[in-house]
Amino acid sequence: MATGSINYQLSSLSSTQQSVAWRSPSNIAIVKYWGKHGIQLPRNPSVSFTLDAAHTDTKVSFTEKIEKDGEVSIDFYFEGAPNEAFANKIIAFLQSLHIEFSFLLDYDFKIESSNSFPHSSGIASSASAMSALALCFCSIEKILTGWPTDASDFLNKASHIARLGSGSAARSVFPEVAIWGTHSDIEDSTDLQAIPFDSQLHKSFKRFHDDILIVSAEEKSVSSRAGHSLMEVNPYATVRYEQANKNMMATLEALKTGDILSFGKILEEEAMTLHALMMCSDPSYVLMKAGTLAVVEKVRAFREETSLPLYFTLDAGPNVHLLYPDEVEDQIWPFIERELVPHCVDGKVIRDRVGSGPRLI
Ligand code: DP6
Repeated sequence: MATGSINYQLSSLSSTQQSVAWRSPSNIAIVKYWGKHGIQLPRNPSVSFTLDAAHTDTKVSFTEKIEKDGEVSIDFYFEGAPNEAFANKIIAFLQSLHIEFSFLLDYDFKIESSNSFPHSSGIASSASAMSALALCFCSIEKILTGWPTDASDFLNKASHIARLGSGSAARSVFPEVAIWGTHSDIEDSTDLQAIPFDSQLHKSFKRFHDDILIVSAEEKSVSSRAGHSLMEVNPYATVRYEQANKNMMATLEALKTGDILSFGKILEEEAMTLHALMMCSDPSYVLMKAGTLAVVEKVRAFREETSLPLYFTLDAGPNVHLLYPDEVEDQIWPFIERELVPHCVDGKVIRDRVGSGPRLI
């Protein structure tokens, strides 16, 4: 595991400090996590690129309580202002973690969080937000108890805690590529946390682009949580989970060998399957917008015409992620800007790429 830089960062934590802050990125799944059971356990394995530009900064300050009242005590500020709705979610989440973090009831915490992307952009912030929060609380544990001394123990726990907050957040803790979910052919893979893949990533993917087109900034009509639970009664669920297991091995092989063609094929198949599953849920729902489909069609036509490696994927929402290698940026970006950006709300696009993981700030 590439823990060098985290090792270095953790050694800068001192036992006297009373606050800690992390910048943690979002991630984009290549093979999607869709369907869960138990306490945040995935129905199938997933693999993602860790991003860079789309991230959350979270600072947690802590002071020892004078009177221990058996409650989790938190003040939460989002983008500089108190935010009760988020605070309640975070209190409930932290309340569930008192076994993992024995110090939780002994301190007053102040949490200040902000995103690099506008809250209203329709970009899912749970992966970056929950991973940043998990990293902060794991750092506080290290400050207060000295554990863990090992960077990989630290990241494993952070991924585990992030998963309890939001499944996809488990993957944001690792640089470049992360795998989450048990697969019989992937060593060390587990449903409990993500594992890194970085040492084997082919150089063609190291600086891969992900331009995120904001096609709609409206709130989703069906949340991811509700979407996951509809998979429990989806008639195609079993076939889907088999497909995801198969796509995992093909994706990992493509990421190792630099096979961009196979990678792109799976990337788009996964996006279309995810949305097809939503459409054939009971009740059925559609999260794509007209602009989403217009972009998808234009990307496919562009590829047909130019043979350039431009591929799309979608999360559980209408916005389109456009993935392509760094070497062809000069040929691809002018097309995106001219033909696809006009489909975005106020021309909004987040130009992101594969990133090196979270860092202490
Ligand atoms: C479609 O991680 O947002 O983006 O665990 O309920 O918080 P919860 O769900 P969430 O689901 C993400 C689903 C996805 C695919 C993926 O990122 O793998």
